[in-house]
Amino acid sequence: MQHDEGSSNTSSNRTFQDVLIGYTSRRAVMKGGLTVAAGTFFASSLAFGAAGGKKGPNGPVGQDKKNGLINFTPVAVADGSGPVPAISDEYEYQVLIPWGTALDNSVADYLGDPNSRPTAAEQARQIGIGHDGMWFFPFRRSNTRGLLAINHEFGDNEHLLGKAFPEGAEDVALSQHAHGIAVVEIRKNGGAWELVRGSEYNRRVHVNTPVEFSGPVAGSDLIYPEADARGTVNNCANGYTPWGTYLTCEENFNGYFNDPSGTWTATPEQARYGISRTGFGYGWGNFDDRFNLGSAAHPNEHNRFGWVVEVDPFTPEAKPVKRTALGRMKHEGIAIVEGRGGRIVGYMGDDEANDYIYKFVSDGNWKSLRAQGMSPLDHGTLYAARFDEDGTGEWLELSLNNTVIRDSARFSSEAELLTYARIAADIAGATPMDRPEWTTVAPNGDVYCTLTNNSGRRVADAANPLAPNRDGHIIRWHDSDRHTGRTFTWDIFIIAADTHGDGDERNFSDPDGLWIDPDGRMFIQTDGGQKKGLNNQMLVARTYDGSADPEVRRLFTGVSLDEITGIAVTPDRRTMFINTQHPGNGDPTRTNFPAPQDGVTIPRDCTFVITRKDGGIIGS
Ligand code: FEO
Ligand code: CA
Ligand code: CA
Repeated sequence: MQHDEGSSNTSSNRTFQDVLIGYTSRRAVMKGGLTVAAGTFFASSLAFGAAGGKKGPNGPVGQDKKNGLINFTPVAVADGSGPVPAISDEYEYQVLIPWGTALDNSVADYLGDPNSRPTAAEQARQIGIGHDGMWFFPFRRSNTRGLLAINHEFGDNEHLLGKAFPEGAEDVALSQHAHGIAVVEIRKNGGAWELVRGSEYNRRVHVNTPVEFSGPVAGSDLIYPEADARGTVNNCANGYTPWGTYLTCEENFNGYFNDPSGTWTATPEQARYGISRTGFGYGWGNFDDRFNLGSAAHPNEHNRFGWVVEVDPFTPEAKPVKRTALGRMKHEGIAIVEGRGGRIVGYMGDDEANDYIYKFVSDGNWKSLRAQGMSPLDHGTLYAARFDEDGTGEWLELSLNNTVIRDSARFSSEAELLTYARIAADIAGATPMDRPEWTTVAPNGDVYCTLTNNSGRRVADAANPLAPNRDGHIIRWHDSDRHTGRTFTWDIFIIAADTHGDGDERNFSDPDGLWIDPDGRMFIQTDGGQKKGLNNQMLVARTYDGSADPEVRRLFTGVSLDEITGIAVTPDRRTMFINTQHPGNGDPTRTNFPAPQDGVTIPRDCTFVITRKDGGIIGS
């Protein structure tokens, strides 16, 4: 979701005010990290793709022997605009699970008829809108059958309802049922992938699905009464755990609340999370009191959103669990790795201009915690990152153990601190970043984060060196003590600005989706206006070639006005799933994809199944 509407961070964290230190000195500091041998840690690799946390389907399998690391024909600029996607000559794609696809035979597919929208009840049994983060959970080690868990981040009222504002509770319920996530069984059948209609695993979790809270905030007055807690919303990017569960991350939840009375005013805490009288114009609060900011019956509803939510894809009857130890923010996604001593480490971006990068470290070995009946995601420490200008940095503990936070006397409990994690990070002195989006961990332990843009930045610093930053960049760091330490070294991997000459694929904009495969191939997905009139795209880059700017090639371009987001792969990495989100921004005069171009049919978000024609590893 492209949402550069400004910043709600009024704190004055500006640790360094000049850009005098060049990249080269930071690259030298970073070099120690770059030379750490692959295999000395357990990356967020496909070893985490196991069904139900059983056997890992594979570890690193080496480069594609036939094709090398990156060896495909880039999509030409001339082919990368217009109403239909384009893909490299050596590749092909198939459309899977467009918005409205029926999960079972109780409802029909919605095919984009502008005069006959789904009912709210139908939408609750159909694939949602706004396809975003996702992961594939194979059955055993299968490369042809498994569960796809997928986020449905958002659909604006015009796209989803065909009108600017809901006219009643049914409209609001339709919108709410189109948000959330889906878990569906998919399989390859006769050369093409399909949803297994009626599978016992097929499930929707939406804004009205019962959920539960766990971790330090559970039981707190801040989310009272929690017994009736329902729903997840604006599910952006994702993560997945070594025990086989899916993590869905709530981002711009603030946009769904509004104040029909016009008399409500925000507390400082609400303002820090961007909660406002109008929200983003969804109008849910006009017909659903939960989203009415003035409702006396639902005083804490907004505090129930902004969390990382764990879903067990293999147990459809299990309630989603909001893991509060991971803090409340506009969570983009979470990249999980196993750190020293088997501790679970999660890296997270908070996507707003001048907000922060976070990490969570579990208190102990994840297997022993689980053996004692505890979730590793409930017991641990949250940190926010401070990037220093000399190429080093520090993880600032966000708890009452941090004397800076304790001395501020701002929080009376860990529950309050985690509910307002952004404010704790303000006090601790974290570095305001240019909209942190996805995080990913490379095989050598380097961690990368997309900083999508910050057109409002006025003062540059070393980690955010452009002011304004219109096109974004990707930052890289290497933690001490195998992901569990308090310090790190860092450098900037690439600046996505128009500095590389005409037609160069490094001249992209607005990096957002990000994943590094076990060979070190980086997949970069974009969300924003691209250069040369290109649609949004997926690029493949080298992470370790040692040059100042990495090689980048354009593998795929989407359709007019869409965003490319979400990455999942089969265990053999010879099939990849990615998404188009808000194709045409919902406008049928711009594209009707995936329907044939007729100028009328509503464009629908959908998944693409990408394969190399010769069966090679994706990205090679
Ligand atoms: Fe949902 Fe920051 O993208
Ligand atoms: Ca974005
Ligand atoms: Ca995003």
